[in-house]
Amino acid sequence: MSAKLWDGRFKEATDKSVEAFTASVKTDSRLYAYDIQGSIAHCKMLAGQSIITEEEADILIEGLNKIKQEIEQGAFEFDEALEDVHMNIESRLVADLGDVAKKLHTARSRNDQVALDTRMYLRDECKEILRYLAILRRELVGLAGKYIDVVMPGYTHMQRAQPILLSHHFMAYYEMFKRDSVRFKEGLARINVLPLGSAALAGTTFPIDMNYTAELLGFPKVTANSLDAVSDRDFIIEFLASASICMVHLSRLSEELIYWSSAEFGFIEMPDSFSTGSSIMPQKKNPDVCELVRGRAGRVFGGLTALLTMMKSLPLAYNRDMQEDKEPLFDTVDTLKGCLLVYGKLLPQLGINQDRMKDAANRGFLNATDLADYLVTKGAGFRDAHRIVGEAVGYCLEKKKELHELTLEEMRRFFPSIDEGVFDVLLLDSAVNRRTSTGGTARENVSAAIRAAEDELGLK
Ligand code: ARG
Repeated sequence: MSAKLWDGRFKEATDKSVEAFTASVKTDSRLYAYDIQGSIAHCKMLAGQSIITEEEADILIEGLNKIKQEIEQGAFEFDEALEDVHMNIESRLVADLGDVAKKLHTARSRNDQVALDTRMYLRDECKEILRYLAILRRELVGLAGKYIDVVMPGYTHMQRAQPILLSHHFMAYYEMFKRDSVRFKEGLARINVLPLGSAALAGTTFPIDMNYTAELLGFPKVTANSLDAVSDRDFIIEFLASASICMVHLSRLSEELIYWSSAEFGFIEMPDSFSTGSSIMPQKKNPDVCELVRGRAGRVFGGLTALLTMMKSLPLAYNRDMQEDKEPLFDTVDTLKGCLLVYGKLLPQLGINQDRMKDAANRGFLNATDLADYLVTKGAGFRDAHRIVGEAVGYCLEKKKELHELTLEEMRRFFPSIDEGVFDVLLLDSAVNRRTSTGGTARENVSAAIRAAEDELGLK
């Protein structure tokens, strides 16, 4: 049996099934580097405050670094009977160094220790996710610049509505991922607070210096209330909420790429290297990567729901329930990073079928609003113009023609003061380029948005 660090008051050994049931080391061993880094800073602070001697601190730090090396070489055996990563490392330090190692846990508890490790882990992962998001945004801007001349139908209710630039569509996703980046960045400010020194729940009787520990670990702030510090998981919930919103965006993009690549749309061609085949139908080329991203949104939402439910109604301060935070958190980090990474690679390789997009934009009366706007300039009220154009569309449906295929005489039956100028208004390019209102799809607007995005990303 492994010697436990807390069994002084116990007369019976822990049941094997309980050891297995309560252990979290299979999951939280992932935090080992942060746990050791935190312990080293803690030693330095204890020595700085003369709670342990400088010599003791040096011995402890050397021992901790040795354990870190061993873990990195794969030579360290994590033991379930020692519950979690914290006690595995500390027990090993005691085994290696003897009595001096028993001083490491002075003025701290696993409750503030695990909060610290999780914050350090998530701080690094957030920065990594921000890097991945920047790559994705860069690729979207790249596509928008490359395909600035491509016109496609814009949709509402999934029905053709008005022509837009494909680049405007890409830049819409740019905006979503920009908001995601801001959300992760803002969340980072609340993750980046040091809880170590809050101890079990009430603080400690030792004359510790949390600000010094914070400085050593690069935390700009320390927690203000020990009870809150050990039982706060808001920063995880916030992260999972930001990740969930980001997955919503990725799933919407996925959905569009999936149906755009269908024969019915034929707007895009998926690269072979990002598609898979069917084991029975030899002709198939499936957009599985996009489908999996769409599907994995569910996992991430599940993680958010799990954490909200786990924290709901928990009394202060630490409760063991909170150990359940790590699996959903780690899974979300891995899932989100995987999705962002694969999209960063897929996007620049998309094949764009410009003719299909343009043909689709040219059929289905996408310039009907433009005709109505034109009638307004000729003196009609918009509501009347709307009804008149509606009637003209009805006429076109009977004649199997588009609005721009009507003759001037035909048009004048609906509104006598229409003149030759109407044909310019009905051109696809006019429908796009006359929409110069802020955020509109006109080429000059979209080009300016691309330039602004390049500035934001530090490109050019
Ligand atoms: N493994 C625990 C967790 O992840 C560490 C804290 C445990 N504290 C305790 N008193 N049982 O939450």
